[in-house]
Amino acid sequence: MRIMVVGGGGREHAIIKKLSESEKVTEIFALPGNGAIASLATCVNIGAKDIEGIVKFAKEQNIEFAVVAPDDPLVLGAVDALHEAGIPCFGPESRAAIIEGSKIFSKDMMKENGIPTAQYESFDDMDKALEYLQDCAIPVVIKADGLALGKGVVIAMTRDEAKAAVREMMEDKVFGDSGSNIVIEEFLTGPEVSVLSFTDGKVVVPMVSSMDHKRIGDGDTGLNTGGMGTVAPNPYYTEEIADRCMKEIFLPTMEAMNKMGRTFKGCLYFGLMITENGPKVIEYNCRFGDPETQVVLPLLDTDLFEIMQAVEEERLSELDVKFRDESACCLVMASDGYPKKYDTGFEITYDDDLKAEIYVAGAKLDSDGKLLTAGGRVLGVVCTADTLKAAVDSSYREAKKVHFDNAYYRSDIGAKALKVLEEN
Ligand code: AMP
Ligand code: GLY
Repeated sequence: MRIMVVGGGGREHAIIKKLSESEKVTEIFALPGNGAIASLATCVNIGAKDIEGIVKFAKEQNIEFAVVAPDDPLVLGAVDALHEAGIPCFGPESRAAIIEGSKIFSKDMMKENGIPTAQYESFDDMDKALEYLQDCAIPVVIKADGLALGKGVVIAMTRDEAKAAVREMMEDKVFGDSGSNIVIEEFLTGPEVSVLSFTDGKVVVPMVSSMDHKRIGDGDTGLNTGGMGTVAPNPYYTEEIADRCMKEIFLPTMEAMNKMGRTFKGCLYFGLMITENGPKVIEYNCRFGDPETQVVLPLLDTDLFEIMQAVEEERLSELDVKFRDESACCLVMASDGYPKKYDTGFEITYDDDLKAEIYVAGAKLDSDGKLLTAGGRVLGVVCTADTLKAAVDSSYREAKKVHFDNAYYRSDIGAKALKVLEEN
């Protein structure tokens, strides 16, 4: 099979690695891919949002199956356009991708279907939003309705901060049209769990759970980032919580989408918070998470391509999707300064005895074939082991064998998860 993967980050590197292990896959194209993905796939310089270019390429190259990984092309209708061209895909069509594309849509859907989530109000009028903030509970969470590069969420600790966030989104348009409508929601507390799932609209098959580390600094301090590291499984996600999630969240979500004629096929990501009152949905993503994918897929023991094909053909229930009973850690190495200003263009080298899987997010090849840093998050150092402790220790040990100038990484990825395991 000639397949095409749309996207070019660490998540896509992990997806492509797994797909390359399938006996059914003969050739992989990555649009646009990156300097490291180039060792597994033919990288083609077509941007992930260039839907016309993507479809044209797929037709010209007789692509037999397409995987669309990032949120933007999914929400913009890349899968719809590929389907129209007769190309089978893994990923939701835009009418289902709206579950991530519009927070108001997903909040209303949850409310109508009794799916547990933070209480909220939505606004298209700034004055009404500001009035609501006069006497709502504080802290409060302000969310831009549309996609905002993962930055459209503000946790306001004071009323003034909340009002400033509303003005920035609705008046100053810092997220463009994404902030024309907003959600103001209740602040919840509790540990967070990411659960990625495969679904074909008939069954939901959760993957192994994981824990993201979103802040730049140790101890979950400093600015939000695209994710500084992940571990899997997440020790807060007990069997009891998993059962409740399936009954109270996963199946009701699938059924609600079906009922609306918005059947979701692809990877549905549940961002959950385990509150005192049970698990609640913080957010849905219409795609694999990054960097969750980098710890989840290495533990997958079933052919990823076969799963993707079964999802597209709505026969996922026929497969026995298995995960190894092991743990994984992804330690993200970033350019110092990220998520603000940082320098790029430094050569990346690995020691000969490197034993980790490296999933590269931001790097390009120069004309001499050297790999150079080209982004804020540069790469993830991924190790799997029998225990979480061994996986975390290995990632930190192997990171010392990866070299580039100005490298920065957190020193406590997995620490919270290990503490929970020790306490139980
Ligand atoms: P998101 O960009 O939607 O992933 O949200 C970023 C982070 O904001 C989440 O991972 C949570 O840590 C936090 N967050 C979002 N909504 C809430 C909420 N209602 N209460 C508390 N924290 C929240
Ligand atoms: N790690 C969270 C996300 O992919 O949005």
